[in-house]
Amino acid sequence: MESIDVLVSQLSLEEKVALCSGEDFWHTKSILHANIPSMMMCDGPHGLRKQAGDTNFLEMNKSEEAICFPSAATTACSFDYQLLKRLGQALGKECLSENIGLLLGPAINIKRSPLGGRNFEYFSEDPHLTGELATTYILGVQEQHVGTCLKHFACNNQESYRMTASSEVDERTLREIYLAGFEKAIKRAKPWSVMSSYNRLNGEYVGESKTFLTDILRDEWGFDGFVVSDWGAVNQRVPALKAGMDLQMPGNHGMNDDVLLKAIKNNEIEEEVLNRSVKRILEKVLLSKKNKKHPPFNKNHHHQLAKEIAVESAVLLKNEGALPLKSSGSKIAFIGEFAKAPRYQGGGSSHIQPYRVSSALEAVKEITEVSFAEGFLPEDSSLNERLLHQAIELAKSCEVAVIFAGLPESFETEFYDRPHMRLPDVQNRLIQEVTKVQKNTVVVLHNGAPIEMPWVNEVNAILEMYLSGEAVGEATVDLLFGLVNPSGKLAETFPLRLEDHPAYLSSKVVDHHVYYNERFFVGYRYYDAKNMDVLFPFGHGCSYTTFKYDQLRISQLEIKDNESLVVHVDVTNTGKVFGKEIVQLYVENPTEGAIRPVKELRQFKKVALNPGETRTASFTLAKRDFAYYHPKIHDWYVETGDYGILIGKSSREIVLKETVRVKNTLKLNTSITANTTFNELIKNPKLSKMITELIETLREDQQFDIGMIKEMPIRALASFQIVDLAMVDRLVTILNILNK
Ligand code: BGC
Repeated sequence: MESIDVLVSQLSLEEKVALCSGEDFWHTKSILHANIPSMMMCDGPHGLRKQAGDTNFLEMNKSEEAICFPSAATTACSFDYQLLKRLGQALGKECLSENIGLLLGPAINIKRSPLGGRNFEYFSEDPHLTGELATTYILGVQEQHVGTCLKHFACNNQESYRMTASSEVDERTLREIYLAGFEKAIKRAKPWSVMSSYNRLNGEYVGESKTFLTDILRDEWGFDGFVVSDWGAVNQRVPALKAGMDLQMPGNHGMNDDVLLKAIKNNEIEEEVLNRSVKRILEKVLLSKKNKKHPPFNKNHHHQLAKEIAVESAVLLKNEGALPLKSSGSKIAFIGEFAKAPRYQGGGSSHIQPYRVSSALEAVKEITEVSFAEGFLPEDSSLNERLLHQAIELAKSCEVAVIFAGLPESFETEFYDRPHMRLPDVQNRLIQEVTKVQKNTVVVLHNGAPIEMPWVNEVNAILEMYLSGEAVGEATVDLLFGLVNPSGKLAETFPLRLEDHPAYLSSKVVDHHVYYNERFFVGYRYYDAKNMDVLFPFGHGCSYTTFKYDQLRISQLEIKDNESLVVHVDVTNTGKVFGKEIVQLYVENPTEGAIRPVKELRQFKKVALNPGETRTASFTLAKRDFAYYHPKIHDWYVETGDYGILIGKSSREIVLKETVRVKNTLKLNTSITANTTFNELIKNPKLSKMITELIETLREDQQFDIGMIKEMPIRALASFQIVDLAMVDRLVTILNILNK
């Protein structure tokens, strides 16, 4: 740090200002006399989009060849810490060999609506899963001494109006849902940088918000890297720098540098504020330059890793026995253009020039012969009778038909949201027609976000591949034929229909505002609270084997909120093949007291088991796992109560339950006033007895209905002329004394 101080002291004001914006689209600036090198950044998050030479914003798809790994919507379904770490390590190695100092990822915004155009790039609707996976990804990349950039901070949950809309979110919702993943990853993995998002949050541009960029990010969570603007996000440079937005990207041809220079010369901003940002940026730039150039990475090995990740992440949504396919003695039809030209990545800034894309039709040749019919053309929504007819005839003549369906590339991309949740009609029709002639119809899906499935009950099996990167074909075939047992579970809920999703009535941006009215009831938190049927629940996924859960043990039946609870559960593979099970631990919140989700995912573990094998999954729960964010104290708070420890195969298939009583140790400073109700007083353990007796007396003397008294504030005693106002005051004083 001292040497950076010295270095900064040797720079002119102009040089320091220059360091706070990019040289061009992808580099920080170099200063030769001070030996300050430039650092290259590159997207992220699921492969390198290295754009060499002159590029501009419109040349999204022009980049050097790299491995296209599965997108975050896919990898999240692995629920696998190690896998995400290995993905990070591989990306780190690719960065080193390409001389990239900072990878622009991971992207961890919460999926508020299934229509979000960039949902494929984000992990989950659940902040715990998001934060955990982002943490190991970051640790994996940064182990290679390459930096990461955690993005997009915060509440950029839709693409429409993303550069101007203000996300209107209450404090508790922010903390519990939209900030929690960032908090976890920042505290535990220490990313080199954070990208401030395009949007406004509660009226203020995030890039100009001292509350978010300094008070919360740095002072509260201890972030010690630099904040970079999302590309082109800077609204006003001076307030942005003051708030803690250190680096503006891309370069601005000196425009905003002049603005900053002028502001410093006019004493609108102190030079020390500038120095602070320069130091933060330089610290990481110099760190990146400690890296020696790495030998080229082995593309084939990384392609294999991409396949492994795709395999581990795929979700078998349904299987009535058509899967796994037999490699001999059965006539198999592959139907659908995606079998030949798969959809494997989303559009926009995360778009990769892949090294080698494998199709299922190509990969299946290693295993057996299949017949193929095109069925539909992905980007052509009109029904092609000839292709449909061919597909039906082929399906009829085989013992099983595997339809490769999914969303066309133009449906899912950065910059805009989907208008609906449907597959193109032509694909729905194809699936429906094929199921009429073939009872063993299997659907393989290529999509970055949930879709409606009007044919769900007609098909025999559904394999959700999501957008699983360049090795999608090999991965799909291995899963279909049971060379590997599917083990992914959904990291988001698939609602039955679009109108069901929690933000349906409030996800539209109107007059540059979007109101998060559903609050913390996002994803399964909403569907559970409303007790709604869903198409496939959060955490759901089938396997070619079966698992039995038993022996749920908790270390204590009662704990204080500052103590921890240890949980063990045994899982046995009761089937005939090797498999992996994702054990999910949800904490069920008490129904009394604050309004809370029914239950929340607090821990998970992926367990690998041979047939007949039993393993114990162990978890430790602490205060935050029982707490909610209390806006009055601006902190996490645990209400005394009974909490369910639920072990689930999915959020809707809870197989074991224990109950622990958690006792609060933090006394809320709530004073009693004349407006405190009798109901509230009864719940206060110190006053409960006395108030119950008082109510009983009132009931007898005044013939009041007991329910009516309970809903009254203390002052009502005067309103109904039972006592006078002076007496009400005295009662309030006494109650406050007793409550101390
Ligand atoms: C995206 C970022 C990306 C940046 C650079 C922006 O449009 O929101 O995620 O890192 O472009 O490509």
